[in-house]
Amino acid sequence: MRSESKALENLTLESILLSKRITKLNYTPFCYFKVDNYLPDATYEFLCETYPQSDQFPERIVNYKSYLPNSSEAFMEYYRTNLVMKKLVDLMRSNEFMQDAHSVFWKGLIQSRGLAGVKKWVDMANTKPEFFDRWFERKWKQPVYSNFEFTEMQQGDSLEPHTDGMHKLVSLLLYFPTSDWKSEYQGGTAFYRAPSSEIASRWSNYQNNKLTEEKVQHFHKEMEGFHVAEFLPNRLVGFLKAKLSYHSVPSIQCPESLRRRTFNININTGYPNYRSPFNTET
Ligand SMILES: [Fe+2]
Repeated sequence: MRSESKALENLTLESILLSKRITKLNYTPFCYFKVDNYLPDATYEFLCETYPQSDQFPERIVNYKSYLPNSSEAFMEYYRTNLVMKKLVDLMRSNEFMQDAHSVFWKGLIQSRGLAGVKKWVDMANTKPEFFDRWFERKWKQPVYSNFEFTEMQQGDSLEPHTDGMHKLVSLLLYFPTSDWKSEYQGGTAFYRAPSSEIASRWSNYQNNKLTEEKVQHFHKEMEGFHVAEFLPNRLVGFLKAKLSYHSVPSIQCPESLRRRTFNININTGYPNYRSPFNTET
């Protein structure tokens, strides 16, 4: 029997702060990490059981994934009614969580983006754009915003190697397998590295240009997969976008009735291109 009150009670800012939970950040070939048992047990169990149903996903790209982004009304309806998810999202959107994340990632951000990595983050969900009218704010501070989405992948779906869009700073993926998920169904996130600097410069892809089918084959001949963050319950996997932050999700091999479910938290640079849906409640 799931307990909403316990799920809410155990979920605190302290319990999810990245500085408290990440024990090892890897910097080669780009900054990545994983945290097991990320959410308190009761919180994870509640969210696993109340994860959106397949028919709640408004968007599906065949052979790729279905997604439920926070820019959709269906996500906001879920957010408003699932108090545990609302609390998690609100904590992750808080200035404390964002500043803590920056304190964890600034070295990796320098690695991936140069000295701009040390700029203090200003969350644009809670700041007026005029803030950046002043030159000294532009010089020392970085506008950021986070967005959230549920994803679902089914039998045969896959994500080819890519580095993520240029606006992305940090990707956080929280895995939500059902209890009957087996490792042979796949579902992990695969990371790649270049075995030489020559190959690295050939595949450098900050713009995240999509690889053609032919190029994907060439990619697998030249680049090497060095790590798969296996799809395990309550595991948080994260990495920083860089010109060689190649990752993929190999073809899902699960039975037709199952789904690879993740809750993604993206920290982006810039301004959200929609009015923040979180601030419209009365
Ligand atoms: Fe990605």
